[in-house]
Amino acid sequence: MRNFISVEDVQDINGLVRKALDFKADPLKNKQAGAGKRIGLIFLNPSMRTRLSTQVAAANLGMEAIVFNVGQDGWTLEFEEEAIMSGNTVEHVKDAAPILGNYFDILAIRTFPSLQNKADDYSELYIKQFIKYAGIPVLSLESATLHPLQSLTDILTIQEHFKEKRRPKIVLTWAPHVKALPQCVGNSFSQWVNAWGEADFVITHPEDYELDKQFTQGASITHDQDYALRDADFVYVKNWSTYNDYGRIYCNDPAWMLTNEKLLKTNHAKVMHCLPVRRNVELSDEILDGANSIVTQQASNRVWAAQAVLSELLKNTK
Ligand code: CP
Repeated sequence: MRNFISVEDVQDINGLVRKALDFKADPLKNKQAGAGKRIGLIFLNPSMRTRLSTQVAAANLGMEAIVFNVGQDGWTLEFEEEAIMSGNTVEHVKDAAPILGNYFDILAIRTFPSLQNKADDYSELYIKQFIKYAGIPVLSLESATLHPLQSLTDILTIQEHFKEKRRPKIVLTWAPHVKALPQCVGNSFSQWVNAWGEADFVITHPEDYELDKQFTQGASITHDQDYALRDADFVYVKNWSTYNDYGRIYCNDPAWMLTNEKLLKTNHAKVMHCLPVRRNVELSDEILDGANSIVTQQASNRVWAAQAVLSELLKNTK
């Protein structure tokens, strides 16, 4: 694995999940794999789970992790080629990334979308510029359109909780929120479940909240949440802003928030969310504090997914 920015960087999803579960069973089994190596964790945006789970994963592999919050502490970066830098940007990624490539063996980047310009966000310019200029393996800690470490964790968590000899029914449901959020988690979860191909996958959202077809193709899509929830084994809850008329909130209908009453339609579904979550806006207390919620186990599994990916990327370091 040269980089990890989408499911397309993975040849064998089940193999990577098995590797992550092996690390869960024995976290220090490869504690020398990263000895003498360093990973730079570069944050243009905030994080708790992604940052800490990747640091723990690196430590389990004997690697040093150094965190740099560019958004708070660094020079404002320019990403456009041939930019005339007379505005607010101070340093070009073309100058910064090769230096980071010399300091580190793996470079990990978190860079959210602007939600202002769809073409720019969906070109993934920022993370692609780091790949172009760093010269070392690049790991996405969530980019403008995708969150692959989260999605690998999600597939792993579903596999851990589903032991029946049939395909699980997985529902991705939109939920209300007070802010316009990226489409990354919904896109990425859809991309991974479709690529995995071992589930019946339904996406439900209000009208005009369609995600990009390049990620959802293969899923059934409905605006009827009650219909979607029938017999579901897993319900993945997430808000996203509009994709077509980009980055807007059209609907904040609290009727879309998952409740215990809605859960009765499912097959005792496990409820997932990537976190952070706005309680009683995006998800109810009764669900989050109830027996069906697996959000804590899901977030805990972030370590093993990160450790599996880092151990693959380490094979491409010098
Ligand atoms: N799920 C997730 O990416 O959490 P953080 O934003 O806290 O890293």
